[in-house]
Amino acid sequence: MNTAHQLKHKLRKEVLEARIALPPHVVAEKSARIIQRFLELDEYRYASTIMTYLDFRNEVQTGELVKRAMSDGKRVAVPLADPSSCMLTASSLNFYPDDLEPGAWGILEPKPNCVRPLDPRELDLIVVPGVAFDMRGNRLGYGGGFYDRFLLRTSPQALFIALAYEMQLCDRVPSSSQDVRMHCLITEERVIRIN
Ligand SMILES: Nc1ncnc2c1ncn2[C@@H]1O[C@H](COP(=O)(O)OP(=O)(O)OP(=O)(O)O)[C@@H](O)[C@H]1O
Ligand SMILES: [Mg+2]
Repeated sequence: MNTAHQLKHKLRKEVLEARIALPPHVVAEKSARIIQRFLELDEYRYASTIMTYLDFRNEVQTGELVKRAMSDGKRVAVPLADPSSCMLTASSLNFYPDDLEPGAWGILEPKPNCVRPLDPRELDLIVVPGVAFDMRGNRLGYGGGFYDRFLLRTSPQALFIALAYEMQLCDRVPSSSQDVRMHCLITEERVIRIN
């Protein structure tokens, strides 16, 4: 019996069903508000090198974030997932969206000849996706542990910022010692800094 695992599975299913039901105009409008808040953060302003996920299936949309960060002169990396090892590689992005194509699960990732691996310790800020979050910064992902493994390899100074709709916030997300907590959550309504 694995209660935490079962609780995670149930919560994941509930939130994902609700999120996939959001109409496209709602996703676009909430995403724009979330990205606007992100771009106003000092943490963003002072970051030189950032990594962001590329959205799929009604996740908070990050296309505008990528474009703005590149035009603001930041070094921007995106993840490349290896499904067999459940590992992420950070890859520097030169041209958006030209360097990208759909990869594992249909998520955009760098084309093979556009992969430029970056040491995770060079990242100042990581924009993290997720399924559900609580006010303590606990994060429920898709269940592969990709981000839990990846975030361990970043610098102790790196900031982990999650983007989510208010509907993805829960009273309590079940967590284990391997789950990496977020430093900040941004929703369409607010910025939540975790102590
Ligand atoms: N640092 C780690 N080293 C080894 N295994 C890990 C590590 N972190 C998580 N795992 C394992 O990965 C599996 C999935 O973890 P979990 O359910 O927390 O995924 P998740 O956080 O929802 O997924 P993701 O991070 O991909 O969005 C679990 O079996 C967990 O024990
Ligand atoms: Mg986890």
